[in-house]
Amino acid sequence: MDNRLKIAIQTKGRLNDDSMKLIQEAGIYLEMGRRTLVASAKNFAMDALFLRDDDIPQTVADNVSDIGIVGENEMMEKQENVQIVKRLGFSKCRLSLAIPKGQDYNGLEFFNGKKIATSYPVILKKFLLESNIQADIHVISGSVEIAPGIGLADAIFDIVSSGSTLVSNRLKEVEVVMKSEAVLIANPNLSPEKQEILDEFIFRMESVQRAIGKKYILLNVPNDKVNEIIALLPGMKAPTLVPLAKEGWSSMHSVIDENDFWVVIRKLKKAGAEGILVVPIEKMIF
Ligand code: PRP
Ligand code: ZN
Repeated sequence: MDNRLKIAIQTKGRLNDDSMKLIQEAGIYLEMGRRTLVASAKNFAMDALFLRDDDIPQTVADNVSDIGIVGENEMMEKQENVQIVKRLGFSKCRLSLAIPKGQDYNGLEFFNGKKIATSYPVILKKFLLESNIQADIHVISGSVEIAPGIGLADAIFDIVSSGSTLVSNRLKEVEVVMKSEAVLIANPNLSPEKQEILDEFIFRMESVQRAIGKKYILLNVPNDKVNEIIALLPGMKAPTLVPLAKEGWSSMHSVIDENDFWVVIRKLKKAGAEGILVVPIEKMIF
């Protein structure tokens, strides 16, 4: 039995960069050759398979890969037997209906009798059925946004992220059907050995994610102001206090939310804090 966890990752495209970053931040170093379809980690029991995002759900369901990083939209569309083990918070987008900019839109009835081009027929069909709309679904695998312009369809149903693809094709978004983000999916029947590797991977990812937006703060405070200053720092649990060589002063250390910091900085100084240092945090483990 091969006890390495196989992870399917998008070869290129919107998910690739963040997926690679996630693995790297978890301290897993993939040995990448040029144009490789498979990469192995030397320091972790994991191998990566590089695939088209559309193929990832099936690859995981069929046990060719154990886990995968894919857009929730792609997972919903493919209806494969996989489970979401973690929502990843990147590659956020929505699946929307869009129509030519110049057309009037007064609600979903617009789509009755219309032809809609999409790469997501399953999700669209379900939505139209639930909304009681009779439209003709025209499946195309790429460049959906050009379909109305060349007379192939009256509308499109596609991924919208920044919205710039719609703008450059003179389309307007009229209905958001679902919101999506990258998700970590897994085969529902992993062996205990593989489950253990997956748990370790998740543990590492969470340690990195917890640190996002968090800063380590060090400040010098007069001893008689310690309580006042602690009260100014929201969410500050049991800060570390270290006496300074300078009589009557201490160095206070803690973790704060970066946003909170900008709100309280002036108050901290007014309360007598000096020498404030804010440093990045790489990982947080509880
Ligand atoms: C999607 C979609 C649009 C574009 C929208 O394609 O088909 O072309 O992104 O993004 P925007 O609102 O930021 O312009 P994607 O790049 O994901 O490629 P794919 O559909 O071929 O996987
Ligand atoms: Zn795709």
